[in-house]
Amino acid sequence: MDFLKKAVIFLLTACFYVSAEKVTAEIAALPQKIRIGLTTDFSIRCLAIPNQHDAGLSKILTLSIKKVQNDVPVTLAVVTPLSAANVMPEARAAKAHGALDHSTNYLNISWKNPESDLAGEYICEGIGVEASGKNIAFSDSIFVSYEYASTEEYVSTLFQLHKELDQSQAKLKAAYTAGNKTQSELVETQTRLSRRQLPDDCIPVVSNATGCDDPKLTVGYHILEIVPKDGLGPIKVLCHVRIQGEGWIVFQKRFDGSVDFYRNFRDYEVGFGTVSPTTEYWLGLENLRRLLVDNGDENGLRVDMTERGTAFNFTRIYPIFRVGPGDGYTLIADGYSDGGKGLSENSGAKFSTYDNDHSLGCPSSLRLAGWWFHEGCGFVNLNGLWGLASGEASMFWYEIYNHPTHSMQATEMKFRPFPSPVRV
Ligand SMILES: *[C@@H]1O[C@H](CO)[C@@H](O)[C@H](O)[C@H]1NC(C)=O
Ligand SMILES: *[C@@H]1O[C@H](CO)[C@@H](O)[C@H](O)[C@H]1NC(C)=O
Ligand SMILES: *[C@@H]1O[C@H](CO)[C@@H](O)[C@H](O)[C@H]1NC(C)=O
Ligand SMILES: *[C@@H]1O[C@H](CO)[C@@H](O)[C@H](O)[C@H]1NC(C)=O
Repeated sequence: MDFLKKAVIFLLTACFYVSAEKVTAEIAALPQKIRIGLTTDFSIRCLAIPNQHDAGLSKILTLSIKKVQNDVPVTLAVVTPLSAANVMPEARAAKAHGALDHSTNYLNISWKNPESDLAGEYICEGIGVEASGKNIAFSDSIFVSYEYASTEEYVSTLFQLHKELDQSQAKLKAAYTAGNKTQSELVETQTRLSRRQLPDDCIPVVSNATGCDDPKLTVGYHILEIVPKDGLGPIKVLCHVRIQGEGWIVFQKRFDGSVDFYRNFRDYEVGFGTVSPTTEYWLGLENLRRLLVDNGDENGLRVDMTERGTAFNFTRIYPIFRVGPGDGYTLIADGYSDGGKGLSENSGAKFSTYDNDHSLGCPSSLRLAGWWFHEGCGFVNLNGLWGLASGEASMFWYEIYNHPTHSMQATEMKFRPFPSPVRV
């Protein structure tokens, strides 16, 4: 704008508003030179500064920021005591804030990623009333320029941006993966919770039952305490009563893989998991031996199995079942013709784990289980890895199909006094 026009505007303004002595305006631009493509934030601030002697007495009625376009000042934003800063459509994507409240009288307008069209002259204008009652007008202006940076600077900025982009992508990916992990952990927790055992008191211990054969026990599962005559204390057991008066003590139970069966020898001796109809467990070789002996060491073994995939059920009964004393808990399983491809083949073997190998040639790591392995490992692996469809480490019973590629989803190993009328 040339000087003459400015003077005309000033004179016109001065005709209406008597003087500008008491209040001054101050305009600032940040930055004052826009660097195209590199400046990301650009703003103009307009301040009304009351005269010191008049402090707090004059009243500012409006404050506005204008931009000179084709020699004409165009209003971009206005603030009044009653309204928040108002952005005009001419200011396009600008944001503004401001206040007129004696202590602070200001207006600020800002843009993101300014282009060359935002360069030019800006005017800050205010109108107020003096303490004496006279109207006052005041203004200030600033010229904003722009420039293009060197190619080198653009290139290095571009590289920097690429780097930041890579970093934030990596962060995003990590967060996503962490989110996935959290999600899968949640699902797992939920699954675990849903298959959690009922607290033992939900299935009352029938303390006055004399054993699993007690006719008081109805068909189904019962937890009860058996006190063997050896005086070594009670053992909590799960009875599977198939026919009232004929209960089996379940010493191995699996169905969902929630309990790890690849354990050391001590674990297999004392037992692990929780004895209940809704959890997986191993009753323990010590308990097993004590209970078998307590029955006069005349017991039969029953194995109930459900095949993975087909849900077919299989039962095998060995009328002779013994487990030797603690020097190796030698297995005797006999009386059922499994063709040497079932448990009879393990008969005579001591119990082995990865930390106590009695097998003389079958490392427990091959079958991922603790079992009565002999040197050739054998044809049964019910303590193997739950969830495997087939293979050396899966839960298999070779004799059923005379084929190794079938594994079990659920198993129960149980015993009761034999001989007794076997009604299956
Ligand atoms: C305008 O306000 C913004 C914050 O909204 C601030 O960052 C900027 O510095 C202000 N502009 C000026 C020129 O003071
Ligand atoms: C997150 O989970 C979804 C759906 O389960 C999967 O498609 C995606 O590959 C996973 N992402 C990562 C980073 O693991
Ligand atoms: C044994 O316990 C059951 C269940 O708690 C009870 O109903 C029954 O009366 C008891 N019998 C004796 C003889 O205490
Ligand atoms: C196997 O036994 C279970 C439990 O007794 C039963 O739910 C299932 O239906 C049986 N499977 C077949 C194929 O009959």
